[in-house]
Amino acid sequence: MTLARVTARVPAKINLSLSVGPLRPDGFHELVTLYQAIALFDDVTVTLKPKDERSTVEVSGEYASSVPLDESNLAYRAAMRVLEAYENDSAFAISIRKSIPVAAGLAGGSADAAGALLAMDTLLGGQLGKNELHLLAAELGSDVPFALIGNIALGRGRGEEITPALSRGEFHWVLGISNQGLSTPAVYKESDRLREGMIVSSPRISEKLMHALLSGEPEELGKNLSNDLAPAALSLRPGLRLVLDIAAEYAALGAIVSGSGPTIAILARDEEHSLDIAVALTASGVVNNVARALGPVAGARIIESK
Ligand code: C5P
Repeated sequence: MTLARVTARVPAKINLSLSVGPLRPDGFHELVTLYQAIALFDDVTVTLKPKDERSTVEVSGEYASSVPLDESNLAYRAAMRVLEAYENDSAFAISIRKSIPVAAGLAGGSADAAGALLAMDTLLGGQLGKNELHLLAAELGSDVPFALIGNIALGRGRGEEITPALSRGEFHWVLGISNQGLSTPAVYKESDRLREGMIVSSPRISEKLMHALLSGEPEELGKNLSNDLAPAALSLRPGLRLVLDIAAEYAALGAIVSGSGPTIAILARDEEHSLDIAVALTASGVVNNVARALGPVAGARIIESK
């Protein structure tokens, strides 16, 4: 059967820990991170078009306006890479329904790229296989391979070398979201500036964090969240401290800058506690938007094909 249209659903991620090592000669930082995929999704629909037509990207949803619609769009580039792998010169239309905020430290652009990779591969017969998709994903961005597999995984290298991790239980997150995003390279640069003259050791993962995940105890997880990029994100956005203060005031189990920020991920005890924190955060006015999301969830998957 020839498919005409395929939709992939892809989750956002948060980093439960992000240990940033020295700057490498290629301009990336060596890191060790523990990713968790959370239940906040973008849907990416890919349709093939005749080759004499123009390929297009359209984006809908709350965060649509800040997404580029030209060839710099990561999902567009992902679809192109899959076509090249199949030596297929068709044109395509990509339609993204965005629920993941943009430039938020939640890997929304990476999620869209992973969705386009999976949807385009499925449209063309699903012959690429996990390894080849992973290789294409790693070329597109450090967080794209994780978006394909989801759940919880260790990321090494620049984040693209993924090892699934064991965990137990479900975690209730509240996300404090700012309308004004932070640029990932700018946050890394600020981090380098803040650490200038300091000896930067190799990145590492905390044993206590891994134990917390295995135990499934949210209290333990909350105590062991960490992010080496937090000082840089807070330096560029001092107002984020107010979000962390509210999390502490409402007895959150932990609160952390997600990735390069500015989203703050707050860990609640349970669903009711997450509602309390979400209401307090909304009422405080220190963030533009508040979302609640459970984690972990699976990575990119096909939800519709016709
Ligand atoms: O891989 P990605 O395109 O998401 O990276 C965006 C930018 O973030 C890089 O160009 C680099 O400035 C910074 N980065 C880094 N070290 C990493 C990942 C990203 O310095 N491990």
